[in-house]
Amino acid sequence: MDKFRITGRETLSGELPVSGSKNSALPALAACLLTEEPVILHRVPRVKDIGTMLKLLEHNGAIVEWLEDGSLRIEAKKIVNPEAPYEIVKTMRASSLVLGPLAARTGVARVSVPGGCSIGARPINLHINGLEHLGATVQQEHGYIEATAPDGLLGNTVHFERITVTGTEDLMMAAALARGKTVLENAAREPEVVDLAELLTKMGARIQGAGSSRIEIEGVERLRGAEHTIIADRIEAGTLVIAGVITNSEVTVTGCVPEHFAALISKLRRAGARVEESATAVRTTPVTRLRSVDVTTEEHPGFATDLQAQFLALMTVATGISFITENIFENRFMHVPELARMGANIRIEGRQAIVAGPSSLTGAQVMCSDLRASASLVLAALVARGESILDRVYHVDRGYERIEDKLRQAGARIERID
Ligand code: EPU
Repeated sequence: MDKFRITGRETLSGELPVSGSKNSALPALAACLLTEEPVILHRVPRVKDIGTMLKLLEHNGAIVEWLEDGSLRIEAKKIVNPEAPYEIVKTMRASSLVLGPLAARTGVARVSVPGGCSIGARPINLHINGLEHLGATVQQEHGYIEATAPDGLLGNTVHFERITVTGTEDLMMAAALARGKTVLENAAREPEVVDLAELLTKMGARIQGAGSSRIEIEGVERLRGAEHTIIADRIEAGTLVIAGVITNSEVTVTGCVPEHFAALISKLRRAGARVEESATAVRTTPVTRLRSVDVTTEEHPGFATDLQAQFLALMTVATGISFITENIFENRFMHVPELARMGANIRIEGRQAIVAGPSSLTGAQVMCSDLRASASLVLAALVARGESILDRVYHVDRGYERIEDKLRQAGARIERID
């Protein structure tokens, strides 16, 4: 199993380029199941979760091809197997994104019920309720959910009890091929939802309101092939900006959309970091001292839960007490005990982590537990004195494309070891 060896306290400099968004590419790939024509996607990041999704599409009958220029070509001429099997779903919960597209295209979809994961229970009841509102009959047996709609789905109003990102995406895809009009209320407003709506629109879907909490979809009979470029990964971008701030360096994070992580930029400024943004880049410059600020995770445009662990790592070296409240997932503080091993002073009380800084972190052997927790350990190791060994970096590989190469090119001492 791969590990990272990181020797901290190096100053970074130069550029840190951002890849395409994993959480945008995943639903875009699921959307390819809605048409028999080929779809070309540019800027799909080569990360493990994308590989898992491609395996799933192949299982469904799609032909998947990486083109010479790094783009992906997906052609789902025929759906042979409208199913997301246990072996795939257990490694990636976002596999449930094929539920809506398969039900809409073939009238039947079988998806293994995802189990809990390290950050929370993460049920998919809202996806299921939504499909039932669109006329599907949903049954659960032997660990699988089966949705059937032999005469096709029917547009309806779906009010989400709670905001769900992949739930909104799943239903938007299903509604694109349903008969009549669907209204999604209390929909997620994440940039990834907007990106998916753009792709679906290019495919011939009729969607209005993506990016707001009310999305209207007028179903069409069929969708066609399209070509689309995935948006920049706002979570990777945010992580790299924090890398610049935590190492007190002058770096430019390029190829991103700062507006997509405005809540982070605003908190960084409140903490005293010097962060300048242009339309497509963010530059950090050194400061003498960082102060603690509080953060509460919320749905977009609030502070992203996917940046909580990384911001918490930063707060360990800021002066003062910081209250970090996690509102989206019930168990997303797995990085805290590992950061404590590096010398951080953090107490957890329910949904809140209370960080007292500044701590002088020292390198240690630590364990990655999930994707964003791992990113926070990388950041802490970059500023810790001495050497850190990060175990189980396959969690990092699920969602960050060559992060060690990017950081090394900017001057970090980080290497992958066996
Ligand atoms: N929820 C339900 N029922 C549902 C769906 C969600 O109770 O049917 C709950 C969840 O348990 C959670 C909350 O609603 O407490 C929000 O979950 P959401 O459905 O929005 O999360 P998701 O769609 O499964 C996506 C991202 C996550 C990101 C969350 C929140 C993808 C593929 N995943 O997950 O990304 O944390 O939204 O923004 O888009 C990551 O990249 O590291 C990651 C975990």
